[in-house]
Amino acid sequence: ARKIIIDTDPGQDDAVAILLALGSPAEIELLGITAVAGNVPLSLTQKNARIVCELAGRPDIKVFAGCAAPLARKLVTAEHVHGKTGLDGPVMTDPAMPLQEMHAVDFIIETLRREPSGTVTLVPIGPLTNIATAFQQAPDIIGRVQEIVLMGGAYFEVGNITPAAEFNIYVDPEAAQIVFGSGAPLVVMSLDVTHKALTTAERVEAFRALGTEPGRMVAAWTDFFERFDKEKYGSAGAPLHDPCAVAWLIRPELFSGRRINVEIETEGSFTTGMTVADWWGVTDRPANALWIGDLDAEGFFALLTERIGRL
Ligand code: BDR
Ligand code: CA
Repeated sequence: ARKIIIDTDPGQDDAVAILLALGSPAEIELLGITAVAGNVPLSLTQKNARIVCELAGRPDIKVFAGCAAPLARKLVTAEHVHGKTGLDGPVMTDPAMPLQEMHAVDFIIETLRREPSGTVTLVPIGPLTNIATAFQQAPDIIGRVQEIVLMGGAYFEVGNITPAAEFNIYVDPEAAQIVFGSGAPLVVMSLDVTHKALTTAERVEAFRALGTEPGRMVAAWTDFFERFDKEKYGSAGAPLHDPCAVAWLIRPELFSGRRINVEIETEGSFTTGMTVADWWGVTDRPANALWIGDLDAEGFFALLTERIGRL
């Protein structure tokens, strides 16, 4: 099984990503979950991560709290999408499992130094503040990362928080610039692909029909999450952005993309947080990312339903 750290700001779609990982022990060994401020403030994201672990029957998973604010900017949150708690939808009770005392950034650094080089994959599905801080504090760990499989950015689908920028990159563009410039191998699940991972009535019903608590919660979360994209963009369902990053680790053949150069805009007056993705190869800047643009949505939802059904 591939050893991973999920860095996250739950978030209904983050929650589904964590459940997918925990339902896939043959492929994924979850070393820990590091929480970051994003969709909602850190006090909620770290708590939500623990709620999700308990829902999966895994109170043994180590959850760490990380950075409460972006490197150089004020935190922008997304309650308008995820609700006040970040996990609005079903009724939830507070988690009983503990939060680890260690800072998330220290956990990332220690883990990468401890495990054999090239054996730990980072899966950031929120703003990149924790990862960038770890890289700044301990540049020696960068060369030890097996791969970074992140959700963020957009090219054909442009922005969802500004006309030019996707939320995770927009919240902390300086952090994104550090990660995209780090030289670590990157797989990028952009809105180009995640906007094709849409729930439908049947797909939500399949979660509910599992008849389990995780199945019912995923259905309730996606029902809630759906209303925003449907009303705002007239989209057919809710995009399950973050589970795409985890699904890549289990069934990469569901996805397709290109190796390209991606730069992060940090100074634009209208375009801060934009992922300037050289999809057509019009520059000679070297490729630094595998940019994912398409997926087999049927196969993706079948995988999700099957794995959540194992919890
Ligand atoms: C990303 O932003 C968050 O709202 C989601 O959890 C996802 O990580 C999509 O732009
Ligand atoms: Ca997220």
